[in-house]
Amino acid sequence: MTDPVTTPEPAKHQKIDTSVPHSARIWNYWLGGKDNYPVDEEAGDAYTAVFPGIVTIARSSRAFLRRNITYLVSEAGIWQFLDVGTGLPTAQNTHEVAQGLAPETRIVYVDNDPMVLAHARVLLHSAHEGATAYIDADVTDPDRILAAAAETLDFERPTALILSNILGHVADYDQARSIVTRLMGALPSGSYLSINDGSRGIDPVFEQAQDAYNNSGAAPYILRTADEITTFFDGLELIEPGVVSVSQWRPEHGSPSPEVVAEHGGLARKA
Ligand SMILES: C[S@@+](CC[C@H](N)C(=O)[O-])C[C@H]1O[C@@H](n2cnc3c(N)ncnc32)[C@H](O)[C@@H]1O
Repeated sequence: MTDPVTTPEPAKHQKIDTSVPHSARIWNYWLGGKDNYPVDEEAGDAYTAVFPGIVTIARSSRAFLRRNITYLVSEAGIWQFLDVGTGLPTAQNTHEVAQGLAPETRIVYVDNDPMVLAHARVLLHSAHEGATAYIDADVTDPDRILAAAAETLDFERPTALILSNILGHVADYDQARSIVTRLMGALPSGSYLSINDGSRGIDPVFEQAQDAYNNSGAAPYILRTADEITTFFDGLELIEPGVVSVSQWRPEHGSPSPEVVAEHGGLARKA
């Protein structure tokens, strides 16, 4: 069965603003995608002029996500995913990796950007047996996310919550923690939480570049320490090796010793 992509009302009235840079499009630019405007390219280049390492961070983060999804499907037997802060479709999105391994996998993406929604409508084709749906919602509204996602996902069954480079957009740490708690609280035992986020305390140049970006008028993104990121997993069982630089989370067998990048991530199971 192929479920229709969810396109709720509010998105129809939103316009894509190409006059200010946007996180999803800049991220897409750094990942080598084509879904961005000159204003995003300019902001992305201004950032890399100060801190070229952001491109390695973006790509290491994408590789972490792929290894997480692979673990979840192949080793943990998960076939339902709730991925909040989808981003623009680039190679190896959650649904491509998961449904490539298990076509029956069901995925719900959530984002609040109209351009992401427009692309989701066109590009998020589902495998026949599974489903890929999209919700236009804000991460700060977990109740709305859960209500809409329940149309596609069965919350009686283990589900993986994916929060990849989204919690930094929630500036208030306590609010970010309570969003994670609320979303995980709705999932049954045997569910998983995957988080990765840009981190503070590794590279001062990254922090300077991020501070300048946050003051540029773009939606701010808060870098957190590895300890703060680890605390998001409180009450859950971290899968080895715990919360580490994303490049060091279960690197592929035979890959050269990965460079530490200023982005931390982990995966944990709800008992
Ligand atoms: C840096 S991108 C990360 C994309 C993808 N998850 C990844 O890791 O490659 C951040 C995404 O979060 C979305 N986003 C930002 N603020 C949001 C909010 N308040 N609610 C929902 N999505 C948001 C952006 O539109 C963008 O798609």
